[in-house]
Amino acid sequence: MNNLRKNKYNFFWIFGFFITIFSCTKTEQTVIDLKSPSENIGIEFFLKSDGSPNYLVKFNNQLIIDTSAFKFEFEGQSAFNKGLRIAKVSKKSVSETWEMPWGEQRVVANNYNEVVIKLKERQAPKRSLSIYFRVYDDGIGLRYEFHEQESVDSLVITDEKTTFKLLGNHTCWWTPADWDCYEHLYRTSKFSDIDVLSLKNEHTLAQSHIPFNAVHTPFTMRTESGVHLSFHEAALVDYASMTLEIDAKNLAMNSKLVSSERFGYAAKVKLPFKTPWRSIQIVEKAKDLIASNLILNLNEPSKVKDVSWFKPMKYVGIWWEMHVGKSSWAYKSKVHGANTKNAKKYIDFAAKHNIGGLLVEGWNTGWEDWTSDGREGIFDFVTPYPDYNLEEVVKYGRQKGVEIIMHNETASAVTTYEKQLDTAFKLMNKLQIHSVKTGYVGKIIPKGEYHHSQWMVNHHMRVVQAGLKYQVAINAHEPIKPTGLRRTYPNIISREGLRGQEFNAWAADGGNPPEHLPIVAFTRMLAGPIDFTPGVFKFKISEKNSINTTLAQQLALYVVIYSPIQMACDLPENYEGNPAFQFISDVGVDWEQTKVLDGEVGDYVCIARQERNTLNWFLGAITDENSRPINIKFDFLDESKEYEATIYKDAENAHWKNNPTGLVIEKMLLKKGDEKSFVLATGGGLAISLKIKK
Ligand code: NOJ
Ligand code: CA
Repeated sequence: MNNLRKNKYNFFWIFGFFITIFSCTKTEQTVIDLKSPSENIGIEFFLKSDGSPNYLVKFNNQLIIDTSAFKFEFEGQSAFNKGLRIAKVSKKSVSETWEMPWGEQRVVANNYNEVVIKLKERQAPKRSLSIYFRVYDDGIGLRYEFHEQESVDSLVITDEKTTFKLLGNHTCWWTPADWDCYEHLYRTSKFSDIDVLSLKNEHTLAQSHIPFNAVHTPFTMRTESGVHLSFHEAALVDYASMTLEIDAKNLAMNSKLVSSERFGYAAKVKLPFKTPWRSIQIVEKAKDLIASNLILNLNEPSKVKDVSWFKPMKYVGIWWEMHVGKSSWAYKSKVHGANTKNAKKYIDFAAKHNIGGLLVEGWNTGWEDWTSDGREGIFDFVTPYPDYNLEEVVKYGRQKGVEIIMHNETASAVTTYEKQLDTAFKLMNKLQIHSVKTGYVGKIIPKGEYHHSQWMVNHHMRVVQAGLKYQVAINAHEPIKPTGLRRTYPNIISREGLRGQEFNAWAADGGNPPEHLPIVAFTRMLAGPIDFTPGVFKFKISEKNSINTTLAQQLALYVVIYSPIQMACDLPENYEGNPAFQFISDVGVDWEQTKVLDGEVGDYVCIARQERNTLNWFLGAITDENSRPINIKFDFLDESKEYEATIYKDAENAHWKNNPTGLVIEKMLLKKGDEKSFVLATGGGLAISLKIKK
């Protein structure tokens, strides 16, 4: 009996041994792992027994992304997701710094470890693909490279399914993945409660298409133990934009590409091809999400030798007066805003207050003919209305040190715009206009394309290239989301891509709630600069609409929301004589360094930035609908200097709804090591300028 049992054991043991050997040779149990420079973040990659590729991510030695697979589907080829072997592995480490020509800081540290894993199908057609992992101390990036295939020069990708499997039902801040629009309010919910399809009819703009239970990126979340994650993509070039489809049951997300209905696929790519990076910022504290440079670092270095023709600046505009209904874009209207006299008035105001630019909307023919189905061939990007002398305005501005910002609203008749692209940019070059605000309101023409489909991603690149040819920097509205490409093409200066200030002027829901920007700072702002257009001083717009912040918060936004072009959006008459305007006059737009002092997603945020060249500091703090105390340690200041501080703080009875203009301005001397406490009002803020005492 004993012997029999023994033999039985031996048999199972030997059988098991052979199974292990067999499966080892057949399926490769090799685990490839890689850690970040300080070893706080790590990835592991392995093939399962069916030869399917899987990865996981650890943070402080704990799983943060559970075993997750990926899969590609193609037109005319079988899917790529199993029967693979590891053909080659190569690793490298990079530790370097690079300089931003303009930005949140001058010097950026870029330290990471990289592994490239070449996967090959065991069976015919024996295709191969490489997966790249880069592991940083503040997150990871992964991307795919499709290699050349015999007698195939391009691939038609119908679906990419990169999975991100979470380890808990995290708290999430999200907007619906509308293929035509980013201008939705953020929602806060547990991951499993995300229900995008219930918002299918939330048409905040003329164009909207919400086909899946998916969210836009950057998609930020917080785990039960307080770790912050944000999912996004970097270097979105010649590919469809990625949204994240929610698999609530499995607490997982899958990449979902925006497709073209015109072509019936997501992306057509020429081989060899590298996809954008799929990125995950992983940090302990919310404030470190803002401090992270992961998205920029995943992009390639600048391909542009010299962009010194573009200078970061503040600007005013013949703009807010249209949004609040004082004038109109169209010539054949009661009051046409863009006339020579009005432009000169704004230029005089800008020159007087240290503001470098003037945006003029409604200057060119076509606005009265713009209807939802009449858009093609309507806008002309070189012909001014009769009451607007473009050359005279440009010349007047130049005499006063104010540069005109061109405006090209395409009404999403993108083919019309492409036909005129060269002519439009040539005109800017001739007039030495070095920046343009573009706009894409409405459904995309050609039909079947979406704002975030591959064709539009490529359109935006064509505009950037035209800009490089003619020395023009681009600020796109209704854009494709930023993915850090400003590192490679620094003439990408700013973008909209969120519910901007203009919603406060006319949105049917009354405008952005006080929590909007304390969420935006940890979500949309992680992608790149925002043309939010702060600085409203007249809070009540109409019966229905008002600005849902205090005046101190409007000032703080110049520091909190980063953009190398910052608008002072209100009308000159609403600014004149108000001492608070001094802050807008003084505040920098280009930074030597940035310190994110504190913050929680959706609650509050406090940032200090040091201006390039002057080395003066500016500080901004904003809160949601909750009033809160805030303690500031001025230990970021230079040891050897004294600073003349001007403090713009909420008055004791300030309140975003009842008393938005309640503001107290105080002056004092401050030095490193000083500490001061303030109270942010409900919907309130705090702005401080700290000038080095001479
Ligand atoms: C939408 C832009 O966001 C807004 O700023 C602009 O005024 C209108 N389009 C008109 O071009
Ligand atoms: Ca807009």
